[in-house]
Amino acid sequence: LFSAVEMAPRDPILGLNEQFNADPNPNKVNLGVGVYFDDNGKLPLLECVRQAEQTLMAAPKPRGYLPIDGIVAYNQGVKALVFGADSEPVQSGRVVTVQALGGTGGLKIGADFLKKLNPTAQVLISDPSWENHRALFSAAGFDVGTYAYYDAERRGLNFAGMLKSLRAATPGSIVVLHACCHNPTGYDLDAGQWDQVIEVVQSRGLIPFLDMAYQGFGFGLAEDGAVIQKFVATGMEFFVSTSFSKSFSLYGERVGALSVVSRSKDEADRVLSQLKIVIRTNYSNPPTHGGSIVVGVLGNPELRALWERELGEMRVRIKSMRQRLVDGLKAAGVQQDMSFITRQIGMFSYSGLTKEQMVRLRNEFGVYGTDTGRMCVAALNSKNIDYVCKAIAAVV
Ligand code: LMR
Repeated sequence: LFSAVEMAPRDPILGLNEQFNADPNPNKVNLGVGVYFDDNGKLPLLECVRQAEQTLMAAPKPRGYLPIDGIVAYNQGVKALVFGADSEPVQSGRVVTVQALGGTGGLKIGADFLKKLNPTAQVLISDPSWENHRALFSAAGFDVGTYAYYDAERRGLNFAGMLKSLRAATPGSIVVLHACCHNPTGYDLDAGQWDQVIEVVQSRGLIPFLDMAYQGFGFGLAEDGAVIQKFVATGMEFFVSTSFSKSFSLYGERVGALSVVSRSKDEADRVLSQLKIVIRTNYSNPPTHGGSIVVGVLGNPELRALWERELGEMRVRIKSMRQRLVDGLKAAGVQQDMSFITRQIGMFSYSGLTKEQMVRLRNEFGVYGTDTGRMCVAALNSKNIDYVCKAIAAVV
């Protein structure tokens, strides 16, 4: 049975963790996966999470099965955060939200549902995009293409190219858009550019699928989620996958969601019935713990305020590391202007380094980033920054 099974390549992002863990270099730095570490290089346990968990543990509950679509209060919390509790789509019942296994799980539920709805549609992802977008939508059976996004020469957005690609897309194509903190480039659209993209998406009859895994890491929760309001305002049907992995530092709890905005409550009810089949036939129903923590924080005004403060601290620290990286690279002798790093937003910097340079960084210095040149700025700290700058200076 297994004699012809081929060895699959390592995952381009999570596979780096395996390599990193096995690396004996005492100076090694993991800038591969998108995970926030504090200035001591530690994965934070947020105080709001600790307190919510303590409350849960003070009154332990038996663990029955959750409903297929997850904890009701969790889904309400996601709707409130993403759309606004009093917003028209939430109030009218035309948006459905299901708890999912991280943002990836939300994408997968949406992909499987879309495959049933429109099996021949093409999926378009940005060029470049999160490594797993292509793999995930291909695994769901879609043909995956790209739309222009990044301008390597000018270090920024190829906005004209993006509009051109979207205008040329076949009606009915599914367009995966990064709501904020574009992964991997760190370059986002501004409000006016979003308006133009939305106009094209609408006039071409494309199906928007927004991936919002980093809400709060750009400019703030409301600012980063503003594009959702723009889509709502059009009255279009669309998908949004969201995640608390990063914003709550709850990576391993797999706390994400998929929200689908329909045209009416009646449509939304039917959509939900189909999403439940997708979930039931994949993993039956989601786990209880992580979702309960999120409910405990979002549903308690004090913990909610604490969460926003802690999220703000993470955001500010990442920004300060961007500046230190630019300054440190200059001090380490890098000639080229690296100030573009401070124009990027979110956890990542698309450094422009080549695959060969990234491999050298890994092999000679134990500094891990993806082969595409993406580095997780959120894993830099005051202790490793000089080392990383010197290592980069040595390979460029
Ligand atoms: C990343 O891009 O590094 C994160 O979204 C983690 C992952 O699952 O790839």
